[in-house]
Amino acid sequence: MTQKTSQAFDEARAEEFGNQLVGTYMGACRTLIVDLGHRSGLWESLAQGPATSVELAERSGLNERYVREWLGGATVSGYVDYDPPTKSHTLPAEHAASLTGETGANLSSLSPMITFLGGHVSGVLEAFRNGGGVPYSEYRPEFTEIMDDFFRRDYNSSLFDGYIGVVPGLVERLEGGISVCDFGCGTGHNMNLMAQTYPKSTFKGYDIAEDAVASATLEAGEMGLTNVTFEVQDVTNVPGDVSFDLITAFDSIHDQVNPQGALNEASSHLAPGGAFMMIDIKASSNLEDNIEHPVAPFFYAVSTLHCMTVSLAEGGAGLGTVWGEQLAVKMLHDAGLPNVRVLDSSNPFNSIYVCTK
Ligand SMILES: C[S@@+](CC[C@H](N)C(=O)[O-])C[C@H]1O[C@@H](n2cnc3c(N)ncnc32)[C@H](O)[C@@H]1O
Repeated sequence: MTQKTSQAFDEARAEEFGNQLVGTYMGACRTLIVDLGHRSGLWESLAQGPATSVELAERSGLNERYVREWLGGATVSGYVDYDPPTKSHTLPAEHAASLTGETGANLSSLSPMITFLGGHVSGVLEAFRNGGGVPYSEYRPEFTEIMDDFFRRDYNSSLFDGYIGVVPGLVERLEGGISVCDFGCGTGHNMNLMAQTYPKSTFKGYDIAEDAVASATLEAGEMGLTNVTFEVQDVTNVPGDVSFDLITAFDSIHDQVNPQGALNEASSHLAPGGAFMMIDIKASSNLEDNIEHPVAPFFYAVSTLHCMTVSLAEGGAGLGTVWGEQLAVKMLHDAGLPNVRVLDSSNPFNSIYVCTK
């Protein structure tokens, strides 16, 4: 006789979870407020000093009625202090530190990625039902701008100390003069910063996105750089006769249609003694290891609504954002990239994979 075990319904647990869910929705609403403040420039305007809605509207050149409603949301969210007698709002310096500025400390640039991906739920739902995915083309050009807005602050703060400086001997080689190619360069801010800092080295960025390559080229021109170029180029099919001392890939392998092909190309286009550096997601390939990861919900949501689906849309591998360290290391080995090492970056999002010939 089989015994049926029934688990008692835990009322307290159910209530706690319901409250957690309400908190989740309040967080989502706050994300919308952060995004509106970020993209409108209102955080920057309010950081200049206390203001009523009328004063802030004048200061920012925006519509007072909308500014007033947004200030209401920012106040009840706990982001802004409010003085009822004067109807004045203040952004505390401690909050401005995470909501303003051009460095990675400004976390408000993450909010547009979340709200933007929310707009793709319907399209991705179709793929849940019918397979396939939502192609990269559906995300552009807005994705390019939002990604650039987020990544460039991280590179302004962390490119040299958080990534390049962590790899033993790399700074010395860049200072001495080497050839560098970035696979999936996007808008190329990291390559432009490196080209500016290491004038004896030459830099090339490859990406399939024409809009991203155009932005990268424009910025290189504005910075007056002559040692960096960008090309529209699929990195799974790099011209045969080129080789580089350093090939980099900044968060650009896991969402590819053919990620193994890209790694194989990196391996075969490394000059003797060359190095491959891949910045990619800091996570495990095993779900159970990611449960306590502080930003894992972000990884899985971004994966489902972008990184995995853009690959599956083209019949690709669909690795997803959370392909994880174990699989990444295996694929680097399979590509013939030698001496694979995994180094920690200074943030919770990325690991640094280094392979040296
Ligand atoms: C998440 S973005 C990262 C961009 C950039 N590395 C950065 O850090 O800002 C990934 C980039 O990889 C590019 N990409 C995807 N598949 C590619 C391929 N086969 N060849 C070249 N670029 C590719 C995308 O167009 C996109 O710009």
